[in-house]
Amino acid sequence: MATLNYGNLGANTPPLEQWGLIGSELGLQQAAVRGKILIVDASDANRRSVRSALGESDHEWIETRATSEAIAAISLHRVDLVLIDLLVPELGAVEFCRMLKKATATQFLPVFVMAPSDDPDAEVLAIEAGADEFLITPLRPAAFRARVQASLKRKAMIDSLDDSETVLFSLAQSVEERDPGLGQHCQRLALMGATMGVTLGLPAPDILALQRGGYLHDVGKVAIPDHVLFKPGPLTPEEWEVMKTHAERGERICSSMRSLTPVLPIIRHHHERWNGTGYPDGLKGEEIPLLARILQLADIYDALTTARPYKRALSPEEALEILEQEVQKGWRDPKLVATLSDILPMFHTPTPPDFAPLSLHALAASIERFRKEAGHNKPNLLLPDPTNAHN
Ligand SMILES: [Fe+2]
Repeated sequence: MATLNYGNLGANTPPLEQWGLIGSELGLQQAAVRGKILIVDASDANRRSVRSALGESDHEWIETRATSEAIAAISLHRVDLVLIDLLVPELGAVEFCRMLKKATATQFLPVFVMAPSDDPDAEVLAIEAGADEFLITPLRPAAFRARVQASLKRKAMIDSLDDSETVLFSLAQSVEERDPGLGQHCQRLALMGATMGVTLGLPAPDILALQRGGYLHDVGKVAIPDHVLFKPGPLTPEEWEVMKTHAERGERICSSMRSLTPVLPIIRHHHERWNGTGYPDGLKGEEIPLLARILQLADIYDALTTARPYKRALSPEEALEILEQEVQKGWRDPKLVATLSDILPMFHTPTPPDFAPLSLHALAASIERFRKEAGHNKPNLLLPDPTNAHN
C-alpha cells in the first residue's frame, strides 16, 4: 500500500519571498482581500452585526434597506460582494439574486443570502437562483470571514481577466455545472496544479497557466453531445472517438485569445501518456509539455478521490497506489507522481492550511508554513532541478 510521506516537501521549494512576486502580478499581495461590500437588510441591528462580524475597518461598506436602493448602489459603485437578508423588502433575496445572476454585468458578483433560521426550502430556492452562499444568522464570525475572503479572492481573479476570458471561464464552469458529480473539481485542480508548480519551482507565468488550466482543460466538452458526455454505461468505440476530441476542441476554442497561449498545451495534451499511448498526438515522455503532465496528475488524483454515482471516493493512499501502478504500466511521469505524493499531506492534514481559492500568495504561504511545521529541510532527490523543470 502506498503511504503518504510527510517529510519530503523539499528544500527545492523556493523561499516565500519569491512568491511575493507572483502575488503582485495577480494584485493579491495581501493574504486578506479588502472588498466593497453591499449589505441589503431592513434591520439596522442586523447590518451592524454583519459589519462587526467581518471587521468594521477591513472593508468598504454600502448599506441599503431594500432592493431598489441596492440596485441603485450596484449601478453606482463597483461592488465586490452582496450580503442580503432573505426577507428583504420589495423583491426579496431570491428574486434579487436571480436578477443579478441573469445580467451580464453582475453575473459574477457574489451574493450571500442570510436567513434568520434554518429553512431548507428557501435555501434550495436561493441556490437555484444563483446565490453563492446561504447563511443562518447569527453568523459564526470565523467561518463567515473565511467564506467572504474566499469569495472576494475569486472575484478579484475574475476581475483580472479580460471580457473574453471571463466568457471562457464561465463556459468552463458551465461544463462543470452540467455534471453535478464534479462538484468543485476545476477549483481543486487549479489549486493542486498550482501547488505542484510552486513545489517544482516553476516561474510565475507557469503557475498562472496551471491555475487557468485547472478551469479550462475540459472546456472542449461543451462541444460533446450530452448522450456521449453523460452516458451512464461504457462508451462505444465511436462514442469514445467523439469524447476524445474534447482536447483539440478545447484548444481551438481558446486559441483565439493571446493571453491564453500558455494554457493551450495543457488543454490539448492533458490526456497524453508517458509511453506515447495517449491522445490526441501520442506524444511520449518529455515531449508531453510539463504543465500538461502536471495538470493531468492532479486531474486523475481528484477524479479518483471524488465519489461518483457509480463509484466510491478512494482514499489518498489508494489513489496514489493506482497512480503508482500507472507508472509501472508506463502511463505516467514517475518523477511527477513522486512530487504529487510529496504535496498530498498538505491537502489531507487535520489542520489544513489556508487553501483559499486562487490566491497564490496564500498558497505559497501555506507551503512555507507546511515546510516549517513538518520540520524537514532535507533535499528532495525526486524533484527535478528547478532550472531544468521548465519545458
Ligand atoms: Fe479531459
